[in-house]
Amino acid sequence: MSERAPGFKRILGIETSCDETAVSVIENGTHIRSQLVYSQIKSHQAFGGVVPEVASRMHTEKIHSLIDTCLRESALSLAQIDAIAVTYGPGLEGALLVGLAAAKAMAAGANKPLIPVNHLEGHMYAHFLSDTPPEFPFICLLVSGGHTLLAQVNDHHDILQLGSTRDDAVGEAFDKVARVLSLGYPGGPIVEKMAKTGNPKAFSFPRALRQSPFEFSFSGLKTAVLQQVNRLQEPLPIADLCASFQQAVIDTLISKSFYACNHLSIPRLILSGGVAANQSLVSQFKDQASKQDLQVYAVAPKLCTDNASMIAARAYHVPPVDPSIIQATPQLSL
Ligand code: KG4
Ligand code: ZN
Repeated sequence: MSERAPGFKRILGIETSCDETAVSVIENGTHIRSQLVYSQIKSHQAFGGVVPEVASRMHTEKIHSLIDTCLRESALSLAQIDAIAVTYGPGLEGALLVGLAAAKAMAAGANKPLIPVNHLEGHMYAHFLSDTPPEFPFICLLVSGGHTLLAQVNDHHDILQLGSTRDDAVGEAFDKVARVLSLGYPGGPIVEKMAKTGNPKAFSFPRALRQSPFEFSFSGLKTAVLQQVNRLQEPLPIADLCASFQQAVIDTLISKSFYACNHLSIPRLILSGGVAANQSLVSQFKDQASKQDLQVYAVAPKLCTDNASMIAARAYHVPPVDPSIIQATPQLSL
């Protein structure tokens, strides 16, 4: 295993790629001293989704007080921080710029190294905020609002994307189905709650792209739910629709992830991203894995959704760079 990064002892992380303003201080790459996440959800709810300009403005309003509070809660001064980590992509450009400006100003003002972090790698590194992180190599299923992908992670500097979604991300599908059912935004947690009392076999929704093991497609599933809703009478069987939709998602994710593990002979799988906060998904992955000698790793829901601890955890393994060359990169991939 290669370990090229210096591994700064105390890293302050900043994450502003979408609709959470987040700041954390972590120690030794594994221990969270303080984690603050300000969710903008209420400001976006009226629009049924994230409005980029509103997101940037809210980040600007919140970021400085969150940094102050985070340092105070960590019982550290800025002088005691060894490096600043910041998400530089992927995400909304204006939102990323707010975090980058704050991080660059702090790094320049306090003469600290600055470490740019890929948000997608950050999601994976939520699993390193632990005394027992997964051993290399492992497969990662990353399921969030903007991304759905499978990756093979050989070591800290060898991350290979195996496949991704051709259309909607899984979280996006949850959000769109919730909108069709008038359940509100964000859809994932509400659909999960409704699904608990529903029958997952009530409706037969498609499990797409069985023939392309590492590729995903969720827009057909979303349309199938919409068409089913149009055929039904009020009151809609919301619980059954949610449970059947969620089961189609889980079945697809399990079969593709386990195929990757078996095909590549890598018996470890980590679940990352906001959708991995779904406890029904996690328990079904674990149940199925125990029958196949695969090990599935999940983290607490608050480490699945966007946060800055995962950004700082990734930064522990990444070298700092000259701040002047770091740019917001909205379309950054793995
Ligand atoms: O990782 P994340 O916080 O932000 C992105 O990087 O996109 O993921 C947010 C997504 C949203 O689409 C949200 O609906 C979904 O994760 N999500 C869930 C759950 N909690 C959040 N989806 C399913 N079940 C959940 N419990
Ligand atoms: Zn995310």
